[in-house]
Amino acid sequence: MIASGSVPRLFIARRLAVDPAAVAGDGLEIDQWDEERPIPRQELLRRAAFADAIVATLSDRVDAELLAAAPRLRVVANHAVGYDNVDVAACTTRRVWVCNTPDVLTDATADLTFALILGVARRVREGERIVREARWKYWAPTMLLGLELRGAVLGIIGYGRIGRAVAERARGFGMEVIWSGGSAAGSVPLDDLLARSDIVSVHCPLTPATRHLIGPPQLSRMKRTALLVNTARGPIVDEAALCAALEAGTIGGAGLDVFEDEPRVHPGLLGRDDVVLVPHIGSATGATRARMAELALTDAARVLRGERPLHPVNEVVP
Ligand code: DGY
Repeated sequence: MIASGSVPRLFIARRLAVDPAAVAGDGLEIDQWDEERPIPRQELLRRAAFADAIVATLSDRVDAELLAAAPRLRVVANHAVGYDNVDVAACTTRRVWVCNTPDVLTDATADLTFALILGVARRVREGERIVREARWKYWAPTMLLGLELRGAVLGIIGYGRIGRAVAERARGFGMEVIWSGGSAAGSVPLDDLLARSDIVSVHCPLTPATRHLIGPPQLSRMKRTALLVNTARGPIVDEAALCAALEAGTIGGAGLDVFEDEPRVHPGLLGRDDVVLVPHIGSATGATRARMAELALTDAARVLRGERPLHPVNEVVP
């Protein structure tokens, strides 16, 4: 499987939540960018040149340039369920497996979605600020009135694993759940979902078809009081259009874990009290990040041993 005389080399493009050697096992050499910050592009290209396998994160672009720089590469194990950072077609052409980390982050991401829903609906950020800035002078029956979840309509865009886990939580809160997207049974047209929902939550993958799926026409269909939550991928929502809608008061607020150009955030969002912003932490629990690392490392090691990966997103003809 490996160029004779050489031990296969696994390059890990970030510090992980587990010890890679303990998971990936014997018989391979591990090279790691053992830092929390992303590896600079030139350094990634340099280290990829010697790699038979790469564990990549969502900020590492795996494209034609990287593939050209990595002649030995046989597998890219993406430490994420989303893989919009990877040119899968180019990898398939080069006979490079692409793997992801499904299932293990479903609950953590659905939980964070609910943290944002509750945070925006119950105006937690505003309340926090009032308390911390010593502006809370008295209790009042009319202070910081929010949206009651029981009976509210939650519209889920993208009814896959995470969308369904959010729906399960929403039913526990007494919400009515509608969904749109893909081939999900019971799916309603997106325009209907936007018009009926009190909260719209985005859970579809980022593809050319879903880039700016939520733009000015879609935002204008939402209720003036409706809240938009996105824990999927930033570019699915046109961030400038979202700022304009919030500024014009044509929607009620937003909860965002993901942004169009991370880690940059549209300046129009930063000063607003009607948005809750967190730094792409949907899957960020200790247990989930450990499982994601284990899946990615396991699949990289499997391919290097000549085995089929457990979670491929492409098919490689030997
Ligand atoms: C994913 O897995 O796609 C997340 O966005 C990263 O945790």
